[in-house]
Amino acid sequence: MTTVPTSAPTHSPSWIDLAACDFQDSRAWACELDARDPLAPFRSRFSIPPHTDGSPCVYLTGNSLGLKPHGVREILLEKLEDWAQLGVEGHMKARKPWVDYHLRMQPLLAQLVGAHVDEVVAMNTLTLNLHLMMVSFYRPEGRRTKILIEKGAFPSDTYAVMSHLRTRGLDPAEHLVQVAPRDGERTLRMDDVAARIRELGDTLALVLLPGVHYATGQVFDIARITREAHAAGARCGWDLAHSIGNAPLQLHDWGPDFACWCSYKYLNGGAGAVAGCFVHRRHADDHSIPRYLGWWGNAPGNRFEMRDDFTPTHGADGWQLSNPPILSMAPLLVSIPIFIEAGLDALRQKSLALSGYMMWLLAERATPGATVVTPSSTSERASQVSIAFARNAHAIHRALLHDGYIVDFREPDIIRAASAPLYGSFEDVWRFVDRLDGLARR
Ligand SMILES: Cc1ncc(COP(=O)(O)O)c(C=O)c1O
Repeated sequence: MTTVPTSAPTHSPSWIDLAACDFQDSRAWACELDARDPLAPFRSRFSIPPHTDGSPCVYLTGNSLGLKPHGVREILLEKLEDWAQLGVEGHMKARKPWVDYHLRMQPLLAQLVGAHVDEVVAMNTLTLNLHLMMVSFYRPEGRRTKILIEKGAFPSDTYAVMSHLRTRGLDPAEHLVQVAPRDGERTLRMDDVAARIRELGDTLALVLLPGVHYATGQVFDIARITREAHAAGARCGWDLAHSIGNAPLQLHDWGPDFACWCSYKYLNGGAGAVAGCFVHRRHADDHSIPRYLGWWGNAPGNRFEMRDDFTPTHGADGWQLSNPPILSMAPLLVSIPIFIEAGLDALRQKSLALSGYMMWLLAERATPGATVVTPSSTSERASQVSIAFARNAHAIHRALLHDGYIVDFREPDIIRAASAPLYGSFEDVWRFVDRLDGLARR
């Protein structure tokens, strides 16, 4: 079944032929590539933080906090002005009325994640949405009690999963299964995940994995693992914090029961921006699914009748709790359309070219002590390149920040560098590797 299509790219993705591309280790060559990049003008739509000398930093942290698009100031000022002029009347009379403001997000989110409009909702924060989804889709029964996650999952996910086990009286030591990379390897093999799911069989209640792993940058095969989970009779959910706006997604067709994401990383929604959630259409009107209730999940027709009975709104909207946080949602109405305008396919091509160039440069330089952890296969990587350091990792990271190369560090030894294709450049990638290499050789 064809889902909501991604927008027709306005820029041909074929401007760089990855297979034939003959990368060169030269700043001039990187600049030449930037000059040929049809997506390069999008960079000027973002505020790039200045270094101490006023020149733009080399910003490689879209995986942590994306940059502010111009236009966010204006949309926030519009909200403040509507509030000042209308007070409570803004719910109905604001230029974009607040009462159903969240509905504006749905067509945009649906395109980003490859879903139908009624399968997505912008609400809450990521960890909270994971909790709400587990209330509904972690249903231990009889032998089927276990939750499978990856070893080294983002701590908030592990905490969330452990709390659902404990609140149902189940000991995580017995019911939480963590699938790990093989000895001597740092990324998971999907074959091993699939094998573990089969092994757990009818003891498995839920599989919860990341679309892109936060530490390694590895892209998981959502379609395959979802199929495996369902074949075992388990439910399947995904943490897409590092996937949305970064890696291709076709959630409806891939069929997970749910997925959750935050919007402050690749989506450039601003710190703490409202998060999002996908609930597959097959659950859209299943009122037997237990859920936590709030008045905004109640059908809009009788939401304001102030009755005790609850009728879930059709689709993902029915999991909402509260009225939408307008100031946290508004920036996304500026930032997501930029993705649609650029074209998701074109962005994907550029993202692969940027991360491919970074990996190629690191290999070419044979930077001492540095090992790229992110898989090189294009099906298993997106924008982020994770580099493990055998020594001096903290010192190298500190020196990079000091010099205006904004990358982040994850314990115990990983520097993460993500060149987001909307504002990343080949020159930035070259400069980063050049500086990193210099520091590693000191
Ligand atoms: C993979 C992953 N999951 C969960 C979270 C927690 O997100 P939040 O603080 O928005 O709940 C993060 C935050 O960076 C993350 O990277």
